[in-house]
Parts: sequence; C-alpha cells; structure tokens
Amino acid sequence: MIIGIDKLGFYTPPYALDMETLAEARGVEPAKYTIGIGQTQMALVPITQDIVSMAANAAQTMLTEEDKSAIDMILFGTETGIDHSKSAAVYLQNLLGLSNRVRAAEIKHACYGATAALQLAKGHIMLNPDSKVLVIASDIAKYGLNSGGEPTQGAGAVAILVSANPKLISLDNATSFFTDDVMDFWRPTYAAYPYVDGKYSNEQYIRFFEQVWTDYKEKTGLDFKDYAALCFHLPYSKMGLKALKPLLEEEDAAVQDRLLARYQEGTIYNRLVGNIYTGSLFLSLISLLENSQSLSVGDRIGFFSYGSGAVGEFFSGQLVEGFQEHLNQEMHKDLLEQRQALSVEEYETMFADTIQVTDQEQDFTDRPDSSHFRLAGIKDHKRLYSASGNKLFK
Ligand code: CAA
Repeated sequence: MIIGIDKLGFYTPPYALDMETLAEARGVEPAKYTIGIGQTQMALVPITQDIVSMAANAAQTMLTEEDKSAIDMILFGTETGIDHSKSAAVYLQNLLGLSNRVRAAEIKHACYGATAALQLAKGHIMLNPDSKVLVIASDIAKYGLNSGGEPTQGAGAVAILVSANPKLISLDNATSFFTDDVMDFWRPTYAAYPYVDGKYSNEQYIRFFEQVWTDYKEKTGLDFKDYAALCFHLPYSKMGLKALKPLLEEEDAAVQDRLLARYQEGTIYNRLVGNIYTGSLFLSLISLLENSQSLSVGDRIGFFSYGSGAVGEFFSGQLVEGFQEHLNQEMHKDLLEQRQALSVEEYETMFADTIQVTDQEQDFTDRPDSSHFRLAGIKDHKRLYSASGNKLFK
C-alpha cells in the first residue's frame, strides 16, 4: 500500500520583525543574523494566537468536507503545550468541526514530535486504508529578549494530511532513528523559556545527523546520488548545512551542486519565519516544493528530523504524479508578504503581552488580528477561540 503526505497547510501570524532591525537594536553586526545564522525576518506572535489557533488556521486552508469526514485521528506535535492535561488536539477537533469519532492526542519530544506523529499516522493508515490522519506541528519559539537564541525565534504551524494514495509524497517504509539522553535544550515545566547550550546543541544536531544518515544508508543502500533533495529541521537556516556539508565532501560536484541548490530552496520560507520547532522540517518541505523548478515526479526527498534532548530520525519519500497541482504557492506568498513589519519597541511590547495567571476574565478581542481563527480570551481558566464571523468556541 502507498501511504504518505496527501496535503500540506501552513500558517504563521500576521506580524514580523526584520533581522537587520533587531541586530541594530542589539548592537550586533546585521550580517551575523542574516548570513552567519541565515535569517531575514522572524515571525512575531500576538496574544491572539496560540498553538491551537495557529494549527486550526493551517489546517482550514487545506481540508475539504470529504477530508474532514475521513479523518479519524488527530496527532498534535508541539513543545509549546497550553495545558499539562488536556491535549491541543481536542480543541482542534472542535474548531475544525471534525467528527467526534476521532482519536485525538498530543505528542511531545521537542522539535521531533510531529515526525513521531507522522510515523504513527503511517501505521494507522496501514490498518485503516480509508482513513485520513491529521498531523499537526505547531509551536511558538521564544528564548527571551536579549538572549542568545533571540535571533532564532519564530512561530507557526504546519498541518499534514496523511492518507493512502497521497497526492504529494509517498513515504518509504525504511526509517532510521537514534535516541540519546543529552541536555542541549530543554524547558522545565516551571520555565517560560528554554535552557539551551547553543554550541553543544549544534554539535548534537550534527552528531545525530551522522548517526541516522549512516544507518539509513547501510539499511537501504541509498546514497546522496539517489536524492533529488534533502530537507532538514531548521532551527535557523544555516543549521542543516553545518551537518550536511562535511558528509557531502566525498560526492562528485554534480551531486553536491544539486543538493546544495535544493537546500537553499528549502530554506526560503524558514528564513522569513524563524524556528517553528516541530514544524520547521515540514515548512522546509513546503518551501522546497513551492520554490523549486527542478523537481519531477518520482524524485526522492530525504528528511532529517531532530528534537533536542535528543531524538533524530532520517526517512525518505518520493514525489507522486500530479504533485505540482496540489501546492499553494500564491496563498503562502501572500501570507508571508502581507505581514505587518513591527519596530523593535512594538515587538518587545507584543512579547510582554502574555496571558495572566488570574481568576479574572481576559478579553483579547480588541487586539487586531485578521486571521480566521484566533484566541478571543480566557474565562474561568478556559481558552475561548473565535472564527471569522464571530463564531465563539469554548
Ligand atoms: N558576518 C557573517 N557571519 C558572522 C558574523 C558577521 N559579522 N558574525 C558572526 N557570524 C557567524 C559566526 O561565524 C557563526 O557562523 P558559524 O556557525 O558558521 O561559525 C554564526 O554567525 C553564529 O555566530 P555565533 O556562533 O558566534 O553565534 P551565537 O554565539 O550567538 O550562537 C546559536 C548562535 C548557537 C545558534 C544561538 O543563536 C542559539 O543558542 N540558538 C538556539 C539553539 C539552537 O537553535 N540550536 C540549534 C541546534 S538544536 C535544535 O535544532 C533544536 C531546536 O530547534 C532548538
């Protein structure tokens, strides 16, 4: 049975900060952010968006009524959970008007959660070929003002519809994974921001890529020459290159040129959004598919997923007949271009505008946000979402 990615949806909030502007305010040479780290803008998240509303906004752009009635599982990958108990997947079931006959759960392991979800979804489709699974990757990356990780912040969600006979990519059965208990990046339940050992996290990312790539190559016999493109988890757009380049050195020039050119196409959107943790790998895939003129049916794409802490996985897929007809270049271009550019002062004000721990009702309806789904407020410690047309969900 052919199982894979049927559709991809993406959402990022309607505000952004230019990295040169941030560099100037932080007294840093702008080229460090734009070239050294490789980021042009970062997405800014208003109080009206959280992982649930962003996921709903990403999913609603791609789901038809037929998809909705076929979905019987929602797996929500995130490391920005809004509740220690209730899963974000349940809110989404309600917001999207999906059937109550769905299995809904949240999956966590840092930036790897959505890859775990994708692999579990494959198994579910194998047993239930007529079903579809909605996999979500939705996160807000915040390291704190003036922190080392500040230039790698971002926010956004990717929605992935997994099915038999997919319209975009068939996923290969072979995968290669590696787990090791390292403290490179973690966020205790009491902390608003992660603790991160930046340089060590880079080294672990590179080590994990070597591990899973070598293992995958041995398992499958597939080598760099067999790939049209490779997509990486991108905490910032330079990270994947640091892992890839040393291993590519032995390859002939044509293979190197091809994979490096596709890598750049796979970073175009990520450069404008920043790190979206679970969704970064899949945003890179969307960027590649929507910006490359060099891909054809049957091309194999490799994926490296990394979640600090740490888990890494390498897996592959092939583009299926007609994939070009199921992309949303214009919609995503508009989403990115129509964002409002904020000043550093406005960014810092937005950053500090957070949900309060209080028994009082909080109303966010006066904050401007033209997105379809938004967080409208909090009442009795319950999040209230609304959709365009003012439909209120509780
Ligand atoms: N012009 C051009 N380049 C410049 C420059 C200039 N004027 N100034 C500096 N640079 C380059 C540096 O040479 C360096 O390049 P290389 O890495 O190729 O050597 C790059 O800019 C970054 O400079 P530094 O290493 O000095 O930057 P830093 O100390 O501020 O740390 C960081 C960078 C480690 C990425 C930090 O932003 C951070 O901690 N980020 C969060 C953690 C992270 O993203 N880790 C990635 C792996 S973990 C993961 O993938 C999971 C996840 O999502 C968090």
